[in-house]
Amino acid sequence: MSNKTRERKVVLEVNNLGIYYETPKGDVRAVDGVSFQLFEGETLGFVGESGCGKSTTAMGILQLVTPPGRIVKGEVRLEGDDLLKMSEDTLRQRRWEKLALIPQGSMNSLNPTMKISSQIQDVIETHRGKQGKEAVQQRILNLFQMVGLPSRIYNMYPHELSGGMKQRVCIAMAIALNPNVVIADESTSALDVVVQRVVAQTILKVKKEMGVSMIMIGHDMGLMAQMVDRVAIMYAGQIVEISEVKALFKSPAHPYSKILIDSVPSLTERETMRVTEGITHDPRNPPSGCIFRLRCPFASNECAQKKPQHQMVRPGQSVACHLYQPQSDGSFIDVRETT
Ligand SMILES: Nc1ncnc2c1ncn2[C@@H]1O[C@H](COP(=O)(O)OP(=O)(O)OP(=O)(O)O)[C@@H](O)[C@H]1O
Ligand SMILES: [Mg+2]
Repeated sequence: MSNKTRERKVVLEVNNLGIYYETPKGDVRAVDGVSFQLFEGETLGFVGESGCGKSTTAMGILQLVTPPGRIVKGEVRLEGDDLLKMSEDTLRQRRWEKLALIPQGSMNSLNPTMKISSQIQDVIETHRGKQGKEAVQQRILNLFQMVGLPSRIYNMYPHELSGGMKQRVCIAMAIALNPNVVIADESTSALDVVVQRVVAQTILKVKKEMGVSMIMIGHDMGLMAQMVDRVAIMYAGQIVEISEVKALFKSPAHPYSKILIDSVPSLTERETMRVTEGITHDPRNPPSGCIFRLRCPFASNECAQKKPQHQMVRPGQSVACHLYQPQSDGSFIDVRETT
């Protein structure tokens, strides 16, 4: 970890989080031992292929996992307090006030029968009690301004809005109570490329103006590169690398990170498109040792026998991979360079 990172205040800390879904053929280990820290004011990206457990992690952090899912282990510390040990009442208060989620697909789950302003008013009044009409109107208009929505949509219904506008309504709802941490799950994914950029810029603006810490979940490595400070790479329920974005793009440490980064199309070099196959093992029966070993071109016996632990192999780059062996002076060697 770089010195700059080490000095920063941790706002959210997740330790060894495990979330399983019960199925007739056994438990799907959707999240299996996820640990990370979110620093004050930073944006942390979560990337990984479909089904790797990004949304389940987000739901777990907010204690919103519902059956057949269940949290089987771990801690979620928000400013020191473990959310997993809190009463439902305290938790309900912390959600939105301190920690807000923009769920995946939320723009399509706005209530079609309620005006936009009433839906935001609901969020505010559920937590803060009944507000004066003018105060609440002012707050909603301020929120509109913050996310770049025109005041004319105040009395409109969701179906009258474009996708980009609906997504901005969801952002406005998430920040309505001034949370310290916002988790945005695929907030730009269902939009066309131009609108994606506009929504991404809205998120960056909100982040800067409110000084919130953010977790951004997404598929798009290119967009991530422009928006986040660090990236957590997830594979089959585990974080395999968590690195500062520049270092990650310059030299990804985990073999899976390299595959993901190489799959970003380049405009300057037109090459054959590299396709990555999906998670190959049955999520109810993960391989022994390293979770990625069945797809890893460098897998050795050690990878089958021992689960690799996270190590800070280079400044700002933490990776769980046996390719990196610690030396007596505290540095690491990449075993590929010694053979
Ligand atoms: N209700 C459920 N029952 C059984 N398995 C489930 C259920 N919901 C999710 N899963 C499994 O949990 C794993 C993680 O799913 P999750 O939705 O968290 O992935 P994700 O990374 O958010 O994917 P995407 O990029 O498609 O949004 C997947 O293997 C999925 O099939
Ligand atoms: Mg998801």
